[in-house]
Amino acid sequence: MCGIVGYLGNNDCIENIKQGLLNVEYRGYDSAGISYIDGNKIVVQKRVGNVQNLFDTITCPDGIHCGIGHTRWATHGEVCEKNAHPHLSFNNKFSLVHNGIIENYAMLRDNVLSEIPFRTDVDTESIVNMVAYINQEKPEMPIVNCLGESLKSLQGSYAIAMIAKETPDVIYFARKESPLLIGVADGETFISSDILGLGKNCEKYVVVPNGVYGVIATDGIKAYKQGGKPYELEFKSMISLGERADKGDNAHFMQKEINEIPAVIVNTIDIYLKPLNPLTIIEPSFWEGIERIEFIACGTSYHASMVGAMFAEDNAHKVARTHFASEFVYNPPFVDEHTLCVFVSQSGETADTLHAVKVAKEKGAKTLGVTNVMTSNLVHVCDHTLPICAGVEVAVASTKAYNAQVTVLLLLADFLRDGNYETIARRISSEAMTLNLEEMWANAKKFVKKISNSRSIYFVGRHMDYITCLESSLKLKEISYIPCEAYAAGELKHGTIALVEEGTTMLAIVTEPKLISKTLNIVEQAKARGATLIYYTSLNLKDFAVKDKDVMRAPVVDVELSPLFSIIPMQMVAYLVSVGKGYNPDRPRNLAKSVTVE
Ligand code: F6R
Repeated sequence: MCGIVGYLGNNDCIENIKQGLLNVEYRGYDSAGISYIDGNKIVVQKRVGNVQNLFDTITCPDGIHCGIGHTRWATHGEVCEKNAHPHLSFNNKFSLVHNGIIENYAMLRDNVLSEIPFRTDVDTESIVNMVAYINQEKPEMPIVNCLGESLKSLQGSYAIAMIAKETPDVIYFARKESPLLIGVADGETFISSDILGLGKNCEKYVVVPNGVYGVIATDGIKAYKQGGKPYELEFKSMISLGERADKGDNAHFMQKEINEIPAVIVNTIDIYLKPLNPLTIIEPSFWEGIERIEFIACGTSYHASMVGAMFAEDNAHKVARTHFASEFVYNPPFVDEHTLCVFVSQSGETADTLHAVKVAKEKGAKTLGVTNVMTSNLVHVCDHTLPICAGVEVAVASTKAYNAQVTVLLLLADFLRDGNYETIARRISSEAMTLNLEEMWANAKKFVKKISNSRSIYFVGRHMDYITCLESSLKLKEISYIPCEAYAAGELKHGTIALVEEGTTMLAIVTEPKLISKTLNIVEQAKARGATLIYYTSLNLKDFAVKDKDVMRAPVVDVELSPLFSIIPMQMVAYLVSVGKGYNPDRPRNLAKSVTVE
């Protein structure tokens, strides 16, 4: 949530900030802004709307070599130009961008900074005003120390980049919890919330550790730990970013990412089949003495975790449960050193999930992350992490990462049973290679009109199909804005069937032969009460008086692997409905890709 970018170097700063912001725009697109020093004045330009809109509507001088930029997902204060970042200090000497939340900003504004005029409703303004205030009170103090002093008064989370009028070719930075990375190339330094926001030609990068702040200048980077002790940043060679932010021939990232699913699954399996792989490099003692497994996640990752828990219980014969991370922190189950807590997160930056890791660790649990971003916070806080190898996922609605998460969790379930997951790995890979995506797109297209015209949709299914219902419903609602809910089919008769009337669309998912009659019985009851039915199945329903025109075909795969593959046409339907309604599926309203606030 919120992307920040900064550039200092020999090339065009404005162009570099623009490219960086476009690459981190998935983190929020309520407003965008840029700040740099022109002559002896700090310039701030910002607009409501996305990054392209900002650069289409502003002009910047040539020859700027240092600046900062921001793309916002609003937390404090409405979406308007005034509240957009960067924020200027009261005396116009500092300009600052921020990702995170300052929990005590009102207290700072009303106490220490009570004499200072505030111009916005945004928590960030308290940071920049605090720096300016300390600088005014102690003019002899270097600005980087003023920043260090200011941080002592902040409660909450932050990734900060700041410029100061007095020091034109310098960017100040600080990080606590919210992600922040620095990248270096020949004669250039970049700073960003995400590795994607660093320049394409970066040779090295570092994830700024928690509690570190510092200064980027033309003669190098200096970093400090809280308290002012110098800190040596350890740069690593840049990882390959070949496919970043490039839609190829696809109209949207979401379409591209759905089309990548078979390759993502096969690549993930290939990595886990290597003799030295993310599972086998973990020391054997980590896996010893595990009595129960708790899967903890949010949103789509929660649904992947449900599949993981179901298989871990069935295959590894351990008690396995799934928890919303946001609930786990307030109502944790019994957790001790015999508990394996598995945290599943595409971004590895979800605040609810990171908070849950802290709670689990305090109780002595073993912690295992499962993530797509190996530079993320999750990797730092968990004992071990399994990568899902999905490649960069840009569309806000998660698709290929879900399939990759389910893949890794299926392997994990068998690994926890007896260490042998090769059989399932090879089965998954060979099914993935036979998927016919073109046929799936064509099938999905046939149902777009019916779904688009629905006032509301109920997805119903049992057992594994219920999890597919949950994820299908989430996908459709978040990008088409059609009210959708998922219900366990057997639960309908216990209350929800009261909602069924003429105009209700019910989408029944049936991929397990043993569940056909039970699921169809219940949806027939809904049909008798006026519901329009769509059957989504890989099975033959002819014996159940189901008409072909009402059947959307699910891929025919090994039943046990149904959750991994039967979601794909549903992801396609969500995409097509969204596009058909004229929305941008990559940028759904009110959402951001990485939810770094609780
Ligand atoms: C839905 C979606 C979200 C995320 C959730 C958790 O398409 O993407 O529900 O799954 O915000 O995010 P991660 O997996 O990054 O922790």
